[in-house]
Amino acid sequence: MKTYSALAHPNIAFIKYWGNRDQALRLPVNGSISMNLGALETRTSVTLPESAPADHLVINDDEQSGASLARVSAFLDIVRQLSGQKAYAEVISRNNFPSSAGVASSAAAFAALALAASRAFGLALSEKDLSRLARRGSGSACRSIPAGFCEWLSGAGDEDSYAQSFAAPDHWELWDCVAIVEAAPKSTGSTEGHALASTSPLQAARVADAPRRLQLCREAVLARDFEKLADVIEQDSNMMHAVMQTSTPPLMYWSPASLLLMSEVTALRRRGLAAAYTLDAGPNVHVICTAGSHEAVKRHLEGLPGVSWVLVSPVGGCARLLGAN
Ligand code: DP6
Repeated sequence: MKTYSALAHPNIAFIKYWGNRDQALRLPVNGSISMNLGALETRTSVTLPESAPADHLVINDDEQSGASLARVSAFLDIVRQLSGQKAYAEVISRNNFPSSAGVASSAAAFAALALAASRAFGLALSEKDLSRLARRGSGSACRSIPAGFCEWLSGAGDEDSYAQSFAAPDHWELWDCVAIVEAAPKSTGSTEGHALASTSPLQAARVADAPRRLQLCREAVLARDFEKLADVIEQDSNMMHAVMQTSTPPLMYWSPASLLLMSEVTALRRRGLAAAYTLDAGPNVHVICTAGSHEAVKRHLEGLPGVSWVLVSPVGGCARLLGAN
């Protein structure tokens, strides 16, 4: 009985995924672009114990049941189907960052699980097929399979909806300073949120304009043009939150502290510091910085009201196998 262990990083989206064409297959309505966060990681090991009566899941030493176990079991069903094996699995997973940090842990979790579980079930998948598999667990997880700066191609169907790297981690030394604001745990998770996106009258316009933003973002990263990157990622984040805020029911992820931070970040940029904000489905503010600005930005963010702490990460690599023993 072998144990397979894998590591994956979470990612922060520059151009956001919000809404699915096919919720079950997690086929998105638009492509997205992200950067892996190298300082943050999830390590997951998978074993197939002989005659185990059910799947077993432990996250950060806590035995899981209910919705989180059901989601992992449904994902393992896909791996079982692909491999033609029926065995139940023992999955042990650990994050090096607190879940209260509000950094999407599902992306790193399902990327690491896709790699460890596919190996445990005897599959040797290509990077593309691993990304497709991770997507089925959590859409954004497909972007945590390749390295560095990645684009999830929305594709026409399951076969061609996957992420690929378009710039290596060392292409551009960017940092993410995540300002953690004191706020209650979010009431609506991403999966529920995606299902509401189409109820906003603004979603169609956001999706129709996505190819333009994707191109600007790709060009900005490839040319290491921070001003261009800042403009497009802030606009993209604002557009996603405009959709969220105008859905039925409305989703309000910003807190007063988020708004204060967004205006502080644009003020810092006017003063010449490379800093740009982006927010996922929560109140924490991700501040993308350059090598020359991240220390000053971190210090500044730490002194602002409502900020409990600041997590800092450079660009990260791909999901990788840690061992089989
Ligand atoms: C706002 O990938 O977490 O972070 O597929 O339901 O797991 P599920 O959703 P998820 O959605 C991420 C939404 C986002 C934007 C992004 O990361 O692109």
